[in-house]
Amino acid sequence: VRVLAVASEVYPIVKTGGLADVAGALPIALKAHGVEMHTLMPGYPDVMQMLSGGDEIRRWPDYFGGSGRLLAGSRDGLDLFVLDVPHLYERPGNPYVTADGVDWPDNGVRFAALSRVAADIGHGLVPAFVPDIVHAHDWQAALAPAYLHYDNRPRPGTVMTIHNMAFQGRFDRELIGAIGLPWGSFDVRGLEYFGGISFLKAGLQFADRITTVSPTYAQEIQSDDGGMGLGGVLRERADVLSGILNGIDISVWNPETDPHIAYRFSAKELAFRAANKAALQQQFNLNSSPEVPLLGVISRLSWQKGLDLLLEAIPTILSEGMQLALLGSGDRDLQDRYQAAARANPGRIAVVIGYDEILAHLIQAGSDALIVPSRFEPCGLTQLCALRYGAVPIVSRVGGLEDTIVDIGEADSSGHDATGFKFAPVTAEALAGTLRKANTTFHDKLTWRRLQLSGLSTDVSWRNRAGDYAALYRGLIAARRP
Ligand code: ADP
Ligand code: GLC
Repeated sequence: VRVLAVASEVYPIVKTGGLADVAGALPIALKAHGVEMHTLMPGYPDVMQMLSGGDEIRRWPDYFGGSGRLLAGSRDGLDLFVLDVPHLYERPGNPYVTADGVDWPDNGVRFAALSRVAADIGHGLVPAFVPDIVHAHDWQAALAPAYLHYDNRPRPGTVMTIHNMAFQGRFDRELIGAIGLPWGSFDVRGLEYFGGISFLKAGLQFADRITTVSPTYAQEIQSDDGGMGLGGVLRERADVLSGILNGIDISVWNPETDPHIAYRFSAKELAFRAANKAALQQQFNLNSSPEVPLLGVISRLSWQKGLDLLLEAIPTILSEGMQLALLGSGDRDLQDRYQAAARANPGRIAVVIGYDEILAHLIQAGSDALIVPSRFEPCGLTQLCALRYGAVPIVSRVGGLEDTIVDIGEADSSGHDATGFKFAPVTAEALAGTLRKANTTFHDKLTWRRLQLSGLSTDVSWRNRAGDYAALYRGLIAARRP
């Protein structure tokens, strides 16, 4: 089985969030399932630097308004196609926004171009790799199934994966002419969306199969709220929609070999976590108190992540005698409020604003609990890393958080041991109540250790999840056979 994946970010080359982790890990995990996946991504400066020496497969004098090339190369076990179009992608920094944090005005053309070449590879542009399936991730790749549909030629199967319904790729209708789609595509059955167009809607409309990154989110997005305007479209396509949980790369996230933590440990040596806790307290300028429960957060700071609720719960953290170490970046307002909370409570609340992979590993290894209070969460990856590092997850009961954490009150004899704490509704009060409960449990050493150990023995790898994708691909190929 040959699959072309299309993604706007791929770890370890370019990453702004979990999409990159998934796009970087899935192709490698699929090898064991007999799936040969190549990944198409844009030629941002970091990508071009990494790919120096890649093979030029195709050259265009005018690709959406400037010269362009398609390159192929490999790195870290990934087989890549890179669309090198300097006037679209040769820009420093974040792949989607300017230095001021504003969307690039030509994002529509930038990611239509990516989808256009994906469709062409689907039609056989690269004779050495003609895919059975084109698999598009998120809105940036979502026009690929639309191009393949409107090209009206024999085509490969198409899969659309939703990582986040909040990002829909909405643009002015005028864009249709510029990106080479027929005007007829401006239709409720096509790209039309509240008078403009939506790339994600197009993908949902035309893909043969739709997946998202957890079974619970697959249900949530069929409601009007969870679908964020596209719930109706998803309800109509419910028969081809499914949820496949994400895994994490267990070689990158392995406490036994992790080069970024102060002291490596395994399930048998959980006591060594104390050295990481001490290092974390030191690095964050928190009081060095081994007995005080240390709460960790690693997150984008956005409405989705519910971290305004955690701010409201800070009085509870303080009155319960707990500490907080937060690493994150995003909304200016949240950054300011967290920094103010840290200034007001030195030694007890500590905040690092920024993106720091190394520090993320230390937080997983050194905090007692990891908090993920999201309003919605398609899957979430940090709680999976936390399970593997013995940081007990405290999460809201939504999306993939619901599917990956077993609440302490729900542990049963059926083989699912509790791994953490879940709260609902997603309010500051419910969160505060759960923090109090976690604090009580923390001081019951045996119970806490049992939570940690069942987390450490949970399978968070890609092995089985990749098998689900492989089965989906094979099922689709079989269904399309005449
Ligand atoms: P999302 O993709 O919605 O941001 P996920 O939990 O799926 O949420 O993935 C987030 C990824 O980004 C994880 O790998 C996490 O460790 C990482 N991450 C998020 N914020 C930071 C940060 N400030 N520093 C380092 N890593 C971060
Ligand atoms: C999105 C979601 C997150 C998910 C990630 C990878 O960024 O917000 O929940 O884990 O994609 O699928």
